[in-house]
Amino acid sequence: MEALWIEGGRALRGELTVQGAKNSVLPLLAATLLAEGKSTIRNCPKLTDVTASLDILRHLGCEVTEEGDAVTVDAGTLHTCEIPEALMRSMRSSVIFLGPVLARLGVAGMCYPGGCELGPRPIDLHLEALSRLGSEVSEGADGLRCAAVCLRGNDISLSIPSVGATENAMLAATAATGVTTIQNAAREPEIVQLQDFLRSMGADVQGAGTSVITVRGTGGTPLHGGEVTVMGDRIVAATYLAAAAAAGGEVCLRGVDYRQLSPVSAILAEAGCWVKSGGNEIVLRRDAAAPLKAVRPVRTAPYPGFPTDAQAPVMASLCTAKGASMFVENMFSSRYRHIDELRKMGADIRTEGRVAVVCGVERLHAAALEAHDLRGGAALAVAALGAEGESAIYGLRHIRRGYADLAGDLTALNAKAYLTEKE
Ligand code: EPZ
Repeated sequence: MEALWIEGGRALRGELTVQGAKNSVLPLLAATLLAEGKSTIRNCPKLTDVTASLDILRHLGCEVTEEGDAVTVDAGTLHTCEIPEALMRSMRSSVIFLGPVLARLGVAGMCYPGGCELGPRPIDLHLEALSRLGSEVSEGADGLRCAAVCLRGNDISLSIPSVGATENAMLAATAATGVTTIQNAAREPEIVQLQDFLRSMGADVQGAGTSVITVRGTGGTPLHGGEVTVMGDRIVAATYLAAAAAAGGEVCLRGVDYRQLSPVSAILAEAGCWVKSGGNEIVLRRDAAAPLKAVRPVRTAPYPGFPTDAQAPVMASLCTAKGASMFVENMFSSRYRHIDELRKMGADIRTEGRVAVVCGVERLHAAALEAHDLRGGAALAVAALGAEGESAIYGLRHIRRGYADLAGDLTALNAKAYLTEKE
């Protein structure tokens, strides 16, 4: 069975340019469908979720070429409006393709993305937004179908600042007749990058990064191809900062806007790490001889709050902090599946619903661990770096969805991390 082996107790040292952001490249790839020509996406990370997206684009009729870290998509030959179940199952966030396919072809269909390891992943806000733009949404046993002879600009008010629903609404609205406003829009940096890309394609989009986004649609005329370079992945960067906090040492991460990490760096600084940041670089140092300290309650929230995706890695780094740290996971109902695995290493974590209290212990010990989801799996690597002995992490398929080369990145930061081959 393939495993990631990590030897604990080695301080991390070195510098690393962080990979392109998974949560930016996926909506960018969906956005290429809006053009009747070629778009190029640079700094594209090698992730299984990206591979799944490229498979969907090819299935829909696009011509997709990859050259190094650049992906070119020609959506001029888009001819299919249905995403088959097998491709949907390979990546639940495929719902993001609904808006652009509907915008180009006037109809889009797919099976329900279903839940995932984080619990139910409803898409009601996506469907409500598309309905507000004039789409007829029919739901049946074999999935859902959206149809619209023409999309009409409208006011959309999201009851939750959903990242995916904001993106789907933006994408569909670019083809509508008239103006669309999206109220209570998600404010993530990845949405700002999506706006920049859409603008490079000729779309008129304003306000991304704020709670109100305005799109002036083309009335059905397709956009032209655009270009974009994927931003650094702030969650991967948060993971590696937490790794340095857990293992001790000093790391310098490049390619990420430090301002996007401020909730995470503030918590790690409060725990006793030295953090210095500027421009597209962030440095974290921690003296392994001095234990970390417990921190004020960490409550996950929509951006610019503490990112839910960083909850597990930061929790892992605080398992040996002196005192008790409380986490409240407000975004997803089942995002504590890494806790049982951390307990196998000797962590003392108590949970009650959305609340988890991490009571610091002297030291974690190595164990055989199972990743149950993407960020929870990365959290096990963080914990293993600070533990005594050599841990093995299984379930790597989860981790590969969002980390292009976790073993390679950690090794570049002086960790002893290696993969055993699949048997
Ligand atoms: C995006 O997921 C990210 N994925 C997630 O990252 C991230 O955790 C999440 O945003 C929150 O920041 C991508 O960008 C590909 P949401 P998304 O819609 O868009 C509820 C990772 O580890 N909701 O903002 O699916 C939903 O259940 C992944 O990289 C509805 O109720 O998240 C959740 O409780 C995990 N109805 C809340 O909103 C809907 O129609 C926020 O979800 C949509 C969402």
